[in-house]
Amino acid sequence: MKEGQPQNIQRSEYTAPSHLIETTDLVVDINEDITTVKSVLKMSKNPAAESKAGSQDLVLDGGQDLETISIKVDGRELSSNEYSIEGEKLSLFDVPESFQLETSVAIKPQENTTLEGLYKSGGMFCTQCEAEGFRHITWYLDRPDVLSKFRTTVHANKKDYPILLSNGNDIERGEEGERHWVTWEDPFNKPAYLFALVAGDLECVEDQFTTMSGRDVKLQIFSEAHNIDKVGHGMTSLKNSMKWDEEAYGREYDLDIFMIVAVESFNMGAMENKGLNIFNTSCVLARPDTTTDAGYQRVEAVVGHEYFHNWSGNRVTCRDWFQLSLKEGFTVLRDQQFSAAMGSETVCRVNDVATLRAAQFPEDAGPMAHPIRPDSYIEINNFYTATVYEKGAEVVRMIRTILGENKFRLGTDLYFDRHDGQAVTTEDFVCAMEDANEINLEQFRRWYSQAGTPVVDALGEYDAEARTYTLTLAQSCPATPGQKNKQPFHMPITVGLLSSTGDDQALSITGDVIANKIRSASGEESVVLNFTQDKESFVFTDVPEAPVPSILRGFSAPVKLEYPYTRDDFMFLMSHDSDGFNRWEAGQRLAINVIQEMIANLQQAKAQPVEQSADIAVDQRLISAFASVLDQAIAAGKDPSFDRAMVAEMLILPSESYLAELMDVVDVDAIHQARERVRLEIATRLRPQLMTIYELCEGGYTYEATGSEIGRRDLRNIALSYLMQQGDDESVALCRKQFETAICMSDTAAAIRAVVNSSADAAVIVKSDLLETFYNRWENEALVIDLWFTMQAVCPLPGTLDTVKDLMAHPAFTLNNPNRLRSLIGAFAGQNNVNFHSVDGSGYEFLASQIIAVDAINPQIAARILGPLTRWGNYDTKRQALMKEQLNRILATENLSNNVFEIVSKSL
Ligand code: PHE
Ligand code: ZN
Repeated sequence: MKEGQPQNIQRSEYTAPSHLIETTDLVVDINEDITTVKSVLKMSKNPAAESKAGSQDLVLDGGQDLETISIKVDGRELSSNEYSIEGEKLSLFDVPESFQLETSVAIKPQENTTLEGLYKSGGMFCTQCEAEGFRHITWYLDRPDVLSKFRTTVHANKKDYPILLSNGNDIERGEEGERHWVTWEDPFNKPAYLFALVAGDLECVEDQFTTMSGRDVKLQIFSEAHNIDKVGHGMTSLKNSMKWDEEAYGREYDLDIFMIVAVESFNMGAMENKGLNIFNTSCVLARPDTTTDAGYQRVEAVVGHEYFHNWSGNRVTCRDWFQLSLKEGFTVLRDQQFSAAMGSETVCRVNDVATLRAAQFPEDAGPMAHPIRPDSYIEINNFYTATVYEKGAEVVRMIRTILGENKFRLGTDLYFDRHDGQAVTTEDFVCAMEDANEINLEQFRRWYSQAGTPVVDALGEYDAEARTYTLTLAQSCPATPGQKNKQPFHMPITVGLLSSTGDDQALSITGDVIANKIRSASGEESVVLNFTQDKESFVFTDVPEAPVPSILRGFSAPVKLEYPYTRDDFMFLMSHDSDGFNRWEAGQRLAINVIQEMIANLQQAKAQPVEQSADIAVDQRLISAFASVLDQAIAAGKDPSFDRAMVAEMLILPSESYLAELMDVVDVDAIHQARERVRLEIATRLRPQLMTIYELCEGGYTYEATGSEIGRRDLRNIALSYLMQQGDDESVALCRKQFETAICMSDTAAAIRAVVNSSADAAVIVKSDLLETFYNRWENEALVIDLWFTMQAVCPLPGTLDTVKDLMAHPAFTLNNPNRLRSLIGAFAGQNNVNFHSVDGSGYEFLASQIIAVDAINPQIAARILGPLTRWGNYDTKRQALMKEQLNRILATENLSNNVFEIVSKSL
């Protein structure tokens, strides 16, 4: 139980800081027992603060883990009646207008398991300050709108910590016996959340980048010695990011040095600290034999993301944490654009939308639903969500779609120019977009304030005589916590009309409703409709025949679109739509349609007094649609320019999570059964084609992380997973052979996964052998062992929970490393629907126990793995009761963190 109600912080209660900090001078003296932090702050009263009459008090933030040694104002030590320390606040009474504040504190980073503030990851010291970690290092005004110039001196033992890093440029260094020190100075003003410090025995790979104005920047990636052979791809990605940001946004890097440090224990993916990014090893290390293609792509995306923050986040930062999406939504859009430019735009879009649907839509439909700019929070760390990040990116993307590429760039130029060096709000961002262009985004702002995933119902009507086609759109948005009634959104809906031959028809439309006309490279036409009413009709004129509409091209708005398409329409769109995203979407919808009908049949059979065997025959149209996709890939032979990644995407059935999202009452077993049945049908009917693809897509002896090579491997491995669906000896032999001869982790992992997931006799015999071989081979590669845990945790076969429990006793398992914890517990709860939701409640009980254990170690991670339990509202009454029982058990735990408390209490 929590003692006392934690405080709910409201966006509406923002007030400017009482004081400013011109300069921040830190001396951090690192030792194995006690680390001391001396801070000298040049402070003054903030002229912009609402002056509370007569109040000259200063209140600083500091965690309970600070042991205060001394407090001096203008060199004079304060006596105990001149200040007070209560909980996490230090109040100084009656300070002068401007003064120098000197504090000295002792901390014990080696005991810090929260991985927030200064902590130890393996043998190195490192920091994580976003959002409110700096207060665990020293007393400060720890809020993003207090910007200061930092100078940091780090002292440590020379032998164990030869490398001492902080933000900016190193300006001085020295030695004193066994110890040494380095002083870093960051010329840019920054909030404390961008502070970073690293001390460790690290190796470094160095490179160089010349900016568009001709300045040379030194690039360094640091890691522990055993990982330094895996930083090459990160370096290439960094250089590509720097170049891309110059070209796409006109943004140049601003310091003479840019450093990345890879650390093993890290709560999130990576952190954009000024000039000194700190990365989870999983987001920066890559080597062909240890890292999957998805891993390579993730490194590229995250390196880009953190680099892009240098402008969208650091040079222009957030006024308060309610504005988090200002930097995160925009920066995610930027990294998505970057990945698209480096690879296939359509494949990237498909993946981004799949992520949004699997992670954000459920959030928007659950008890924690919040707008991309939340109105209140208890613990800000709980708001680093798919909504703030991914939906935030969709919202900025919609502005871009409404304005068009060129006007959007005018808007971002003005935004960066106008707010450089400031801490601002999402409102400032939208204003810059408006001011740079003649546009009114008044109604559009509702995307920032209203939560929930809108539903758009579309209907089309063709009038042969008048040659008009009327597209009628109606929108609604479900209620979310605290928001019962929603106002209509301003949505950009990108539309094309296909003729009976599958060509895009020329589009002319009446009324002032078009935001933008888009002409694709090959000349096809789409229009962006400004859809702003509850219900609105758009009339296309001069339409020679009844068209098949292609609506929401490129997924132009984060909504659920309904249109009475027939399965034949889907097949038509799959093969003819000029919009790649909608071609994929048509395939997905066809599959959803078919699977949903099978689920309904399964449920009906189960509901009979005597359970009947359900008619779950698979609509053969789906099989022939898949056949023609495979045939195209076969016809392309080995042509390297053929987009195999897209074919691979087309062959992946909608995920169980997304299918669950689409059901009023989720039936995990029926979903799994129906989806598996379709997979088996594909595997059986299309075996010859799948085998041909598998052979055709065999690769050479060198690994390349290029789009075309990744696409080839993806397609081949999808073919393999379908082949294995039958569990026959021949397919198992293929897996074995691939496992033994693979030259890269994507191929190794695909082979072993297919075997692990199979219940066929031939697979069961070799399973443990392969897992053991894999483990022994990769024992010393932490990220590969994470994969090893995950592939066992996500296995849908019965008995997996017991395997997971056994694995928790494995010597390589620990609750202290977030990657490891997520690889087993997070993967089981988040990706193994059938086992986690087992109707006996064992999965729920297991997760609750782990959350309670982890909360005592690392509250941020405990709160994050809690997600699946909070979605009880989507399940049957029996499961609901079981899930709530576990939530209540968590809530009754003593000394629960604010992080877990907020999520559990809001979800009950
Ligand atoms: N700001 C980091 C990012 O890009 C995320 C992060 C948040 C990392 C909090 C650590 C702690 O996106
Ligand atoms: Zn970010």
